[in-house]
Parts: sequence; C-alpha cells; structure tokens
Amino acid sequence: MYRVETIRRLREARRLAVLTGAGVSAESGVPTFRSPEGLWSRFRPEELARVEAFLRNPDLVWAWYAHRRQIIRQVQPNAAHRILAALEDRYPDFTLITQNVDNLHRRAGSRNLIELHGNLERNYCIACARPWQEEDDEPQAVPRCPDCGGLVRPDVVWFGEPLPQEAWSRAEAAARRAEVFLVVGTSAVVYPAAWLPEIALESGAYVVEINPEETPLSGRVHDAIRERATVALEALWSMLES
Ligand code: OAD
Repeated sequence: MYRVETIRRLREARRLAVLTGAGVSAESGVPTFRSPEGLWSRFRPEELARVEAFLRNPDLVWAWYAHRRQIIRQVQPNAAHRILAALEDRYPDFTLITQNVDNLHRRAGSRNLIELHGNLERNYCIACARPWQEEDDEPQAVPRCPDCGGLVRPDVVWFGEPLPQEAWSRAEAAARRAEVFLVVGTSAVVYPAAWLPEIALESGAYVVEINPEETPLSGRVHDAIRERATVALEALWSMLES
C-alpha cells in the first residue's frame, strides 16, 4: 500500500515542503472544520469568523475563540506532529506550512513553520495593533487594549481577510522549489492555501496526499495515501529510517 516510488522520492529529495490542515490535529482531539462533528457544523463560521461579526458581537466571537483555545491547551501534539518536526532534521531545505491555528506544530518542535492562518495563542488590538497577552484566566468577555481601549481580537485570518503577505510569499516559494510536497489532513478546499499543492505540481514536485478521505486534489497527486496522519507518517518514517 505504500509505493516504492514514494519512499524513493522521499529518500532522495533534498527539498521537502509539507502543507497541513485540521486533520493532522484530529488525533490529538481537536475537532476538524468540515467533519460532521466539526466546529463548523455547530456554529456558522460566517457568523463568527468575520470582522463584521466581531464588531457586531465581540463578546460572542471572543467566547468562541476562548472555547477553542481551552480545547487546544488541554491536548498534546501527536505522532504526526512529532514526525513532521523530526523530518526537519533530515532535509537541508524543509518547510512546514500549516493552516492550523492550534500551535501544536510549534509545541512538537517544528521550527521552520509558516502559519498561514495565524495562531490562536496570539491576540492584538484592532485599533493600535499592539499585541495582547492574557494574564491568568482567559476572560470570557472581550478584553480592551490597555494602551488605547480598542477591542482585542485573536491573531487569526478571518473570512474575507487576506493571508499575511510574508507568510504567503514564503509558502509559495517553498511549494515552487520542493522536490517532494506532502499534503496532510486538509480538505484542500480553502483558497489560497489550496493553491499550494497545485503550484508544487505545476513546478514538477512529486506530490503525496495523506488523508483517509478523498479530496478534490486526490485525482491529481502522484500518491494518495488513504490513512490517518499518524499511521501514514509513522510508516513512512520507519521506511525512511530503515
Ligand atoms: P477541514 O476540516 O476542511 O478538513 C480536514 C481534513 O482532514 C478532511 O479532509 C479529513 O478527511 C481529514 N482528516 C480527518 N482526520 C484525519 C486524520 N486523522 N489524518 C489525516 N487526515 C484527517 O480542515 P482544513 O482543510 O484544515 O481556515 O480547513 C482549511 C481551513 O478552513 C482552516 O484553516 C480554517 C477553515 O476555514 C481559517 O480558519 C481561516
């Protein structure tokens, strides 16, 4: 079930890039967005993950993010996060690009990490942009900036907002120069992140998808491994090490 060609490419490559999505954190206990029990089925994202929603009802939006933050603080990185961190030492040119805002890649030790959609652990003032860090207990109502009194928001990308420019440029460059591009645990439907595997394909990379479900990308990749992230990455890792 694991292609010899995939192992050979992974062994020989010097430039590896990886794109991850919510599926990589699923086995840590963080709900994904589009699964039936996912966050998006219980809350309408357009009601919450938008600046208009935040301005209309900042306490509600803040409470929702506080709830998500509480979940991620109670969970641990899993074997997939750890193997992706370990892979960084195998390749002279390694880039991990994530759509996740849960900080688990960093907690697992990844260093060359691009957070395309921001990070739930960071917040900033919408009026003066000053970073804001909560003290002990997570406030349930939206905090105010101690400097200017502006509303504090999570440092995540909301619907209708552009990706952080520098993060996108670095991700695009990594996708262009990768010899092997891994796509792990993403439904590959949210753009511009979903362009990255397309860019890698166009640039001649060998593209491998790891996802128990089929995605719109599956038909075009060189290898679609229908497995959970921990299982597939553990198998690939042991084949690489043997
Ligand atoms: P989705 O919830 O859309 O997709 C999660 C994917 O993970 C699905 O394709 C699942 O089949 C797969 N999956 C589930 N369990 C898995 C496992 N154990 N191992 C591997 N794969 C597994 O999440 P994303 O693709 O990350 O954006 O969603 C992209 C963006 O949509 C998110 O970053 C978020 C959301 O709007 C923002 O917050 C800006």
